[in-house]
Amino acid sequence: MADGAAPVLDVQGLQTVFRTRGGEVHAVNSVSFHLNSGELLGVVGESGSGKSVTMMSLIGLLPSPPADVRAGTVMLGNRDLLKISADDLRDVRGAKVGFVFQNPMTSLNPVFMVGNQIMEPLIRHMGLTRKQAAVRAAELLSMVGIPDAKARLNAYPHQFSGGMRQRVMIAIALACDPDVLIADEPTTALDVTIQAQILELIKDLRQKLGMAIVWITHDLGVIAGIADRVMVMYGGQVVEQAPVRELFANPQHPYTRALLKTIPSLTGEREERLQVIEGQPPILAGPPTSCPFQARCAHAFDRCRTENPQRRAIDDSPVGRGHDVACHWTPETAHA
Ligand SMILES: Nc1ncnc2c1ncn2[C@@H]1O[C@H](COP(=O)(O)OP(=O)(O)O)[C@@H](O)[C@H]1O
Ligand SMILES: [Mg+2]
Repeated sequence: MADGAAPVLDVQGLQTVFRTRGGEVHAVNSVSFHLNSGELLGVVGESGSGKSVTMMSLIGLLPSPPADVRAGTVMLGNRDLLKISADDLRDVRGAKVGFVFQNPMTSLNPVFMVGNQIMEPLIRHMGLTRKQAAVRAAELLSMVGIPDAKARLNAYPHQFSGGMRQRVMIAIALACDPDVLIADEPTTALDVTIQAQILELIKDLRQKLGMAIVWITHDLGVIAGIADRVMVMYGGQVVEQAPVRELFANPQHPYTRALLKTIPSLTGEREERLQVIEGQPPILAGPPTSCPFQARCAHAFDRCRTENPQRRAIDDSPVGRGHDVACHWTPETAHA
């Protein structure tokens, strides 16, 4: 896509708060990002950094209460998903935005044959007859690499292996030819060989179908092989964002640098190279008043403790388009 063309998805200033008995949890704090058509955006960050809550906020999947999507705009084409009716949002979820989550056993209904579960969105959103939907469902199953697809339509979820169930979820997510696919740690629960197969499948489908993808993972190693661009999240914020090669070659945020060190080396010295970032991510009871990473950061100085850094461009492109980082530290401050 040419630079400057309208993105398929454009999120600005998203804020999501949970109201709990212990008070408010500010899980997503002013998150902004965009997704160009056909691109694969990797979203990384350790557990609890706000990746899932961000994506679920976009498409109205969080129960409210306790969740409160308090601010922001989520433009899909020319519609703001935070402003449309619940019915319209359900249509968007079925037809425009597909999603695949970590555990396919909780997403598939155990009491219905998988064929019916793939046919349902085709009948509801695409207006196909049952007969047409059955034909299309078999095509979809075969497209995601399930052998003997027609016969397998009559099988139940428990009759599939974990990897095959995840393929079924992908078939459902892609049934209505969505503009955007959101994949939230879709391979995390699978063993390594199956993970690699699912990754290959997604790469292949992306080539064939050309949808834009948001791929969430806590593993930067996975991102390296598939993403065009990467967004790093920490403490409910975007702390850095860049094209994938740029991010690996020129990481700016101390958290991104630490994450990169956790990737096992390709030369085999796994044990030695694997570093764990010490400490815990913060749970924010209010809007952040300091850098969320400062307590774990080797570079933190006074300003980091009193002022949450805004995202600033690293190159001369606007924030969010090229490479940007939310960090007070620069080579200049280091010598100040
Ligand atoms: N139902 C909930 N009630 C309160 N806090 C929640 C709830 N769901 C998620 N959170 C909080 O939101 C934060 C972000 O969670 P999440 O988006 O699931 O992280 P990630 O997907 O990056 O692992 C976490 O601190 C988590 O404790
Ligand atoms: Mg998650």
